Amino acid sequence: MTAPLNPPNTKPSIILGIESSCDDTAAAILCDGKILANITASQTVHEQYGGVVPELASRAHQSNIIPVIEMALKKAEITSSDLAAIAVTQGPGLMGSLLVGTNVAKGLCIAHQLPMVGVNHLEAHVAALFIDNPVELPMLCLLVSGGHTQIILVRSMLDMEIVGTTQDDAAGEAFDKAAKLMGLGYPGGPMVDRLAKEGNPESYSFPDSQTEGLNFSFSGIKTSLLYFLRDQQKLNPQFIENNINHVCASYQRQIIVSLMKRMNKAILQYKPASIGLSGGVSANSELRNTWLELGKKHNVPAWIPAFEYCTDNAAMVAMAGYQKYLQGNFTPLSALPFARNKH
Ligand code: KG4
Ligand code: ZN
Repeated sequence: MTAPLNPPNTKPSIILGIESSCDDTAAAILCDGKILANITASQTVHEQYGGVVPELASRAHQSNIIPVIEMALKKAEITSSDLAAIAVTQGPGLMGSLLVGTNVAKGLCIAHQLPMVGVNHLEAHVAALFIDNPVELPMLCLLVSGGHTQIILVRSMLDMEIVGTTQDDAAGEAFDKAAKLMGLGYPGGPMVDRLAKEGNPESYSFPDSQTEGLNFSFSGIKTSLLYFLRDQQKLNPQFIENNINHVCASYQRQIIVSLMKRMNKAILQYKPASIGLSGGVSANSELRNTWLELGKKHNVPAWIPAFEYCTDNAAMVAMAGYQKYLQGNFTPLSALPFARNKH
């Protein structure tokens, strides 16, 4: 039997995803929409400073990026010659950090003659919801990270509209700044989450700021915690030490109440087919439980990514990049990273 003149292209589409927008250096391999490897090197150097130091982040990315990519290829049992494209976070993020990831991606694309796909970090956080989940569209996504708090109407991975955003701080920042005020390390979210489990959320009350439409505001709650702790410490110098669990539980509860209030309103307004929670703060245990309750209340499926896809990772970048790859939507190697969102 003779072979057909144009045999169907059965080669799998294997994408290398690279993420380096803030303080996590990450690489992942995606094969026809399935994750084969997801490697993240988190930087501990920032803990002592209570926040990310951009120059130190860039240097750590430089040391970590090649080993992380090699580990991802090894874990997926492939080599660079098996790749169909490289997806890389182009922005928003720290410029020095983004330059490390994008320049490595460009070098690999030139060396292996591969197309590059530039990915928006926020769209990647939304794409995390599509990994292993058959999400229903349109989906209303609550994106809660260290830099952003947004409600996004997701018609598809390539068609999204921001319908609510924070007017000042992001929810993750509210967690991180509270942790700093109480002498906990960085990032603060996981620590506040852990301590809150042992506390009573009804112990103290913190305010919710008034905002327009579906927008958020978290600078007020942060300032109220500052004054609250200052006043209590004056009365009892051991106040934080003795009550940290209750403070964390009450503060965390108010952040979640503020988020849910806007989401509730957005669901009634947009009537989505499903809701999705994403970004680093979606790792919060109380928020995850509350999210599932919100879905039940409105009778819509409520999705949350697996833990490893919640905080910054490259699997979500590969997933977002794969959609653009399928459309032939490639990024020229002359394209520059961008620190701020273009939206
Ligand atoms: O998405 P992400 O890894 O990076 C950004 O794009 O910003 O989010 C990091 C944020 C930090 O503010 C961190 O404190 C927060 O996510 N975070 C949490 C938890 N785990 C991470 N916040 C609350 N509870 C958690 N368990
Ligand atoms: Zn992020």
